[in-house]
Amino acid sequence: MLSLKGIYYQPSTAERPILEDLTLETNSKGIVIISGSSGSGKTTLVEIISGLSGYQKGEIKWRNKKLSARQRRWLCGLVFQFPERYFLGLTVGQELRLGHKKLSNKDQVSVMKEVGLDGLDFKQPPEQLSGGQQRRLAIAVQLLRKPKVLLLDEPTAGLDWSVKDEVIKLLSRLRRNQKILVVTHEPELFKSLNIENYELRGGQLHSQNNFLSIS
Ligand SMILES: Nc1ncnc2c1ncn2[C@@H]1O[C@H](COP(=O)(O)OP(=O)(O)OP(=O)(O)O)[C@@H](O)[C@H]1O
Ligand SMILES: [Mg+2]
Repeated sequence: MLSLKGIYYQPSTAERPILEDLTLETNSKGIVIISGSSGSGKTTLVEIISGLSGYQKGEIKWRNKKLSARQRRWLCGLVFQFPERYFLGLTVGQELRLGHKKLSNKDQVSVMKEVGLDGLDFKQPPEQLSGGQQRRLAIAVQLLRKPKVLLLDEPTAGLDWSVKDEVIKLLSRLRRNQKILVVTHEPELFKSLNIENYELRGGQLHSQNNFLSIS
């Protein structure tokens, strides 16, 4: 189980806290969707959960064990918003092997299959892939780290409608193997999945599950 209790975070440069007494309790599998207006703190929250950013009060636990930032970096894989902007590899194969120098061919093939990119030429430059393929490659790179919690910041932003649907279908498949937490300003896209839905507002998470089941 992933649990966040009483999380408080105010950057020294900010006038007010971004997160204040934020709480979340969720199972170790399945998808959590967090929506919220621009500036509500969604990116800040995934950066904190993934250990990239600290916080001043509260605790984050996985299976009842309190985690340090370093432990959270091991536990989580974070796919940034517009991850394709941060590709460093000259080829798909190089992108997969960054940080995994000894990655076997078998593991490369298997992760690409997992994200629905089987058959793709590993010698192709990542920038030549379609928008949806690039997003799936970015997810594959994180899956290689075998995260227990996969965090995605706006995974459908800037994609065509049919491609958004591809990403949602992929997440629907992946949720069987790990916890997935998505922050998005398009929560309605994820309606077809049986998900936990929250809105981040006033620095806290508010359950939205009734709202989703009405329409
Ligand atoms: N290091 C920082 N110092 C000062 N203010 C910060 C810092 N980091 C974030 N903020 C502020 O905190 C608020 C939340 O930012 P964040 O990027 O988490 O929002 P968001 O919900 O992801 O927004 P968007 O939907 O636009 O991506 C914003 O008002 C932002 O300006
Ligand atoms: Mg953001």
